Amino acid sequence: MTWLITGGAGYIGSHVVHEMAVRETVVVLDDLSTGRAERLPQDVPLVVGSVLDRELLDRVLTDHAVTGIVHIAGKKRVAESVERPLHYYRENVDGLRILLEAAAAAGVGRFLFSSSAAVYGMPDVDLVTEETPCRPLSPYGETKLAGEWMVAAAGQAYGMATASLRYFNVAGAASAELGDEGVFNLVPMVFERLTGNEAPRVFGNDYPTPDGTCVRDYVHVEDIASAHAAAARRLVRDPAARLVLNIGRGEGASVAEMIDIILDVTGRNDLAPVVEGRRAGDPARVVASVGAIGKELDWAARHDIRTMIESAWAGWCLRHGRPVSP
Ligand code: WQD
Repeated sequence: MTWLITGGAGYIGSHVVHEMAVRETVVVLDDLSTGRAERLPQDVPLVVGSVLDRELLDRVLTDHAVTGIVHIAGKKRVAESVERPLHYYRENVDGLRILLEAAAAAGVGRFLFSSSAAVYGMPDVDLVTEETPCRPLSPYGETKLAGEWMVAAAGQAYGMATASLRYFNVAGAASAELGDEGVFNLVPMVFERLTGNEAPRVFGNDYPTPDGTCVRDYVHVEDIASAHAAAARRLVRDPAARLVLNIGRGEGASVAEMIDIILDVTGRNDLAPVVEGRRAGDPARVVASVGAIGKELDWAARHDIRTMIESAWAGWCLRHGRPVSP
């Protein structure tokens, strides 16, 4: 097998590349809008370009004799998607359609798609299963759900094995060099506050949860990567696979609990969190049921929250030229 990994120079994509390149032949396509070539292993070829460029896709699929695709490239900022919905539909939906057309024309038989827990919106259940109704609340979530539909329909029509993997809240890094460079999620946002000697912010403590703060399912990016490798192996074994799977730990952690661990890991217990108003659109609780992925891929997450935070902090310190404390 030769796998094309789109978005392979990004935060999540580069972890998937490092994991899959150990056993498989891998080529990366990335427009480097947020990715960086330095994230890739030396021997993995990088093609700089967009999935919207059909001619380029045809050339890459032929030149590298690609037999499977892992599509991770895409826009992923919920708030930005509300401001620029058509940009998100273009990049995430048009981009995927063009990639699927090229894949079908080239006879690619395996297709793995990065989806998101954002497809569920505000699920009203303790554990979210893949059968929980999908009611996305943002254009971002809509593009992921539309993407899943397109992937399954194309797989059916053109004889491709497919998997859509719904990531829950991704954090951590396999090494400091591969850390998340965006400051758009809880862990890096708290790091940024601490680095500026400011108290971390809690967006609402009046939710119907045990401590009043929102509960999420945080999963280490290395676990996300190993789930992709497991899904890719399954698609190779099972050419008729049509999988939709949650990737999470199956355990919730509240914002207050997360901040407690972050303060401990960073040695900043002096900066007690401050409670602010709720952020619009935040569900109280989103935690994955991981029964399906355990059964289908014989996979389970291995890393705990402390490991995620320690590894993310090491990356933050490296990028900001400061010693890892305490
Ligand atoms: C987690 C919790 C905040 C910062 C989003 C997307 C989702 C996925 C991951 C891509 C929330 C609270 C945050 C802070 C806080 N993305 N918070 N203080 O919103 O669960 O998920 O990113 O695929 O689709 O929706 O993640 O990390 O932004 O927030 O209290 O300084 O932390 O309100 O409850 P979210 P997040």
